[in-house]
Amino acid sequence: MTAIVFSGLQPTGTLHIGNYFGAVQNFVKLQTQYKCYYAIVDYHAITVEHDPEELRRNTLEMGMDLLACGLDPRQCVLFVQSQVPEHTELAWILSAVTSYGDLQRMTQFKEKGEGQEFVSCGLFTYPVLQAADILAYKASKVPVGEDQVQHIELTRRIARRFNSRFGETFPEPEVLLSEALRIMSPAEPTRKMSKSLGPKHYIAITESEDSIREKIKTAVTDIGPRPDTNEKSPGVANLFLLLKLTAPKEIYDQFEDDYARGVLKYEPLKRAVADYLVKTLEPIRARRAQLKEAEVREILIEGARTARAVARRTLEEVRERIGVGRVVL
Ligand code: AMP
Ligand code: TRP
Repeated sequence: MTAIVFSGLQPTGTLHIGNYFGAVQNFVKLQTQYKCYYAIVDYHAITVEHDPEELRRNTLEMGMDLLACGLDPRQCVLFVQSQVPEHTELAWILSAVTSYGDLQRMTQFKEKGEGQEFVSCGLFTYPVLQAADILAYKASKVPVGEDQVQHIELTRRIARRFNSRFGETFPEPEVLLSEALRIMSPAEPTRKMSKSLGPKHYIAITESEDSIREKIKTAVTDIGPRPDTNEKSPGVANLFLLLKLTAPKEIYDQFEDDYARGVLKYEPLKRAVADYLVKTLEPIRARRAQLKEAEVREILIEGARTARAVARRTLEEVRERIGVGRVVL
């Protein structure tokens, strides 16, 4: 039987090349090997302050970006979390087999809550909803980055506790770590590329050619030079990583060789990075430009319909096991 894969992405707005190389490219590969469910997790996004109009917009944009990157509705199920209400229902049920102490240990909660005037209870129980996302489909593989490993471990504990109390129901999902790569901000290469740092710090997958060239051209290369070791400075290492991800191996090797011989010039390196990045992103931009909003909405609705049929069956089983519902029978 083909294994079931589940992953979720928050609707944070435009995808950037960090998201693409760090996560989405892997989603695209997996869809040909497994039964994949990918959700745009809007209910996770409301656990911190948000603007409703922006969330609505970002949810659709994320759908468009994911399709442009190559998620194919014929090969995977792509949907919006809130359109499958079974997720939230299951989250409530699972909260009863989730340890309060475990939730207190979640580092993402501590990080996101730190220094905030208002910390929602939803931010605290966020990992339970994440567990419900995964377990509603009885997924056994979850492609995520390093930062989510703790949440998947918690999901395993939740599944285990449920199974031991109510009988074997859920598999214990394992993490499919995408290649552990971190794309750094071109403007400040000691920090991870992220939208929240501002436009200088990320390159969107749909960015114009001019803007990509400008950001690569002005990318910081020289902070923290390490003359004593042969190690690349963070900015140079980031350019090499981008080249590795986009250029043919011979080209990459040539620059590595120049570097090793101490004759590397930043200008041609940057030009090559910009050229290959533009080339890699071009088909994505072209697909994105062709997508019609109405068509994307249809795909998401259809995805939710398919997902819901599966989640509903899980919920029927779960309700039965825990002894709720069917009171009159
Ligand atoms: P986020 O938008 O930060 O929740 O990230 C969504 C996905 O993209 C996660 O799987 C992250 O691990 C991945 N991701 C985000 N930023 C980067 C980055 N700079 N480099 C590599 N992967 C990233
Ligand atoms: N918490 C994840 C993140 O911030 C997103 C997410 C929600 C998720 N539900 C999920 C990831 C289920 C994997 C599986 O990136």
